[in-house]
Amino acid sequence: MTSHAELLEIATTVARRAAAFALQRRRDGVEIAASKSSLSDIVTRADRETEQLIRDALAAARPRDGFLGEESGGDTSQSGLTWVVDPIDGTVNYFYGIPAWAVSIAVVEGDPEPSTWRALAGAVVNPVAREAYTAYVGGGAHLNGAEIHVNEGVGLSLALVGTGFGYDAEVRRRQATFVQELIGDVRDIRRIGAASLDLCSVAAGRLDGYFERGLNPWDHAAGALIAQEAGARVAGIEGCPADRRLLVAAAPDLFEHLHPRAERFYAERFDDGQ
Ligand code: IPD
Ligand code: CA
Repeated sequence: MTSHAELLEIATTVARRAAAFALQRRRDGVEIAASKSSLSDIVTRADRETEQLIRDALAAARPRDGFLGEESGGDTSQSGLTWVVDPIDGTVNYFYGIPAWAVSIAVVEGDPEPSTWRALAGAVVNPVAREAYTAYVGGGAHLNGAEIHVNEGVGLSLALVGTGFGYDAEVRRRQATFVQELIGDVRDIRRIGAASLDLCSVAAGRLDGYFERGLNPWDHAAGALIAQEAGARVAGIEGCPADRRLLVAAAPDLFEHLHPRAERFYAERFDDGQ
């Protein structure tokens, strides 16, 4: 049986290779290949090529494992493990040349479904910043090999809180009303533009907390494990694991204040039941 540390080694090696490839593609010039859920939800040629590189590398190293990727869908697992991949998280940043995008690779046990999976290892690599965030379950969280921890003891009024918005205009408007409600009660709000890096920022103490609704599994699979291993609480609605309805991540004391606020707002304003 492969250890969690060995799985992390695979995730990190492949994420580093993919990140270097995507960075080279960025230097060569970005090309939009298509729009997805809305005109602003873009996919570049590099997203697709990077995912293919990752898919091929993982299939070679772990042929019996499943795969779930943002751009190319899934392969069922024969081993019980599945690799959950966002080839370029922060695609809009990538397109504009804003240095906050990352390759995110996690390996999970069970169905590739955030409400039931158990994340075993994850790597988030930002090649522009030359930063690799890594964690395996029970092994702590690391940034370029150095242990990282969440900020403890920060009250809501002094918290720097990250968030993100979906691509659908109506959903964004409603999400913005919660930011409007919260912004007077916290130190400030950041919208960095890559969910995986938001979660890693909580892990590294660059943000005190983070919340977002509407995330896809590949946006948070690796980052949520890294945040948890750095000491964060990460959860969704009503004590459930994070899913599309909500993800909140923060040190446990801040989580106690941030989570009920987000949960109350989203329960009242979104009644889509998912
Ligand atoms: C998006 C980013 C963004 C978040 C969106 C995600 P993508 O992923 O993580 O920060 O707010 O919810 O969809 O499209 O750049 O891979
Ligand atoms: Ca993403």
